[in-house]
Amino acid sequence: MSQAPVAPRPKKRSKPEAGFSRREEARFQDVRIFLVERKMGRSRRSFLTQLARSKGFIVEDILSDAVTHVVSENSQSSSLWAWLKGFSLSDPSTVNVVDISWFTDSMREGRPVAVETRHLIQDILPEAPKAAPVNKVSQYACQRRTTTENYNKIFTDAFEVLAENYEFNDIEGRCLAFRRAASVLKSLPSAVQCVEATQDLPCLGEHTKAVMKEILQYGRSFEVEKILSDLRCQTLKLFTSVFGVGPKTAEKWYRRGLRSFSDVLAEPSIHLNRMQQSGFLHYGDISRAVSKAEAQAVGNIIDEAVHVITPNAILALTGGFRRGKDFGHDVDFIVTTPELGQEESLLIDVIDYLKKQGLLLFTDHQASTFDISKLPSHKFEAMDHFAKCFLILRLESSQVEGGLQRSEGDSRNWRAVRVDLVSPPMDRYAFTQLGWTGSRMFERDLRRFARLERQMLLDNHALYDKTKKEFLTATTEKDIFDHLGLEYIEPWQRNA
Ligand code: CTP
Ligand code: MN
Ligand code: MN
Repeated sequence: MSQAPVAPRPKKRSKPEAGFSRREEARFQDVRIFLVERKMGRSRRSFLTQLARSKGFIVEDILSDAVTHVVSENSQSSSLWAWLKGFSLSDPSTVNVVDISWFTDSMREGRPVAVETRHLIQDILPEAPKAAPVNKVSQYACQRRTTTENYNKIFTDAFEVLAENYEFNDIEGRCLAFRRAASVLKSLPSAVQCVEATQDLPCLGEHTKAVMKEILQYGRSFEVEKILSDLRCQTLKLFTSVFGVGPKTAEKWYRRGLRSFSDVLAEPSIHLNRMQQSGFLHYGDISRAVSKAEAQAVGNIIDEAVHVITPNAILALTGGFRRGKDFGHDVDFIVTTPELGQEESLLIDVIDYLKKQGLLLFTDHQASTFDISKLPSHKFEAMDHFAKCFLILRLESSQVEGGLQRSEGDSRNWRAVRVDLVSPPMDRYAFTQLGWTGSRMFERDLRRFARLERQMLLDNHALYDKTKKEFLTATTEKDIFDHLGLEYIEPWQRNA
């Protein structure tokens, strides 16, 4: 590799280079390489670029936020880091800064290899005294322990507003950046007192830091206030708060000039689907948080129904309440049976039973489309294929310890509660439990970690090792963490 032929600097990227086959289709979409020309030299850089592209790697000509791996010939260099900091990357800490050995390893393997310590270029100043290693906060939520105690709510609330605004405007990258930043702050054991204290934290870019600075200085963010006072944002937030109404529908209604629920309900040309009709009908109840005591009462009802139908059925709490949250927007459960296949009809029978008791206000049952031969799925964040149902349950005050938390002027002795049930085959139980326990950010990063650090594919159904080309079995969540080489994180530590 050291005696590289001197290739002319390509003027057009699409021109095939002599010596290599035409540029392959980009095979590794998740990896974007940038080769640092300093030390390497122009011709060698050009040669390595063509080599990588011929093997299906994406090599960027320009260093931008899209880059995932910065490759340098220098193995230890403070000047490289100083140079890198000169680029205003929104979050340099999420980029892998590696030496040429990672590149040559990847070329030899014909795929991007996992970054190992020996590949990393350390940010070492020449005369820096050897400081005690600080416990670095991981960029992956699945390597952080995040309880429900959030010491940085003033910041994370602001980030959530910004994230949602970007979501409404379909700017996914920025939305995710703010959700990541919020997630990092949630994992901290204390409140951030000054922006300088965030220096070593991952996932905090210039924009997030500017927002934090404002909040620290003035107690509020002007950008957030502007969004909150924006009519479009307010209306979209209102519409999406209805069960069954997503950002697309909300936007459609807004564009048609509708601004309130009465506008929507009075508009004759709007056809509400069944879910949305129930959403409006029970809006007051299901937009109000469910308490732990109410979740417990729902658990008792589901428990009775499931066990009347199948005495040896297995029922487990999942979702936010399993993570120890005090309030939730719904209550989530997994139900299954030890006999493979029997779970297929279980949900239908449970729904039937609840219906006969007059407890069901809404049912949306989705039969299983799970097909083991279609695994592994490469779709990131795809819905799982297990049988599931989204319900609205009638909960009587008398069933709740301490009674219902009633809103003012409400004399009813019941409330509507959203309930989700999922029913995987028993041998998929651990994957489902891990997938449904959440949080969404924790799940996202588990999958990202599996893919980028372990060359594995994880979803609610299975874990697939791409290197060994085999599925890894698991009967407990701990088995899955073990396969991934991750420390076990308890459900109550997954509130990322
Ligand atoms: N989930 C899923 N597939 C679905 C629905 C949900 O994998 N079809 C997962 C989500 O990724 C999430 C978990 O189930 O991690 C729980 O979802 P949800 O009830 O929406 O969120 P919670 O974390 O329980 O929060 P909340 O208290 O607001 O209900
Ligand atoms: Mn939930
Ligand atoms: Mn849910």
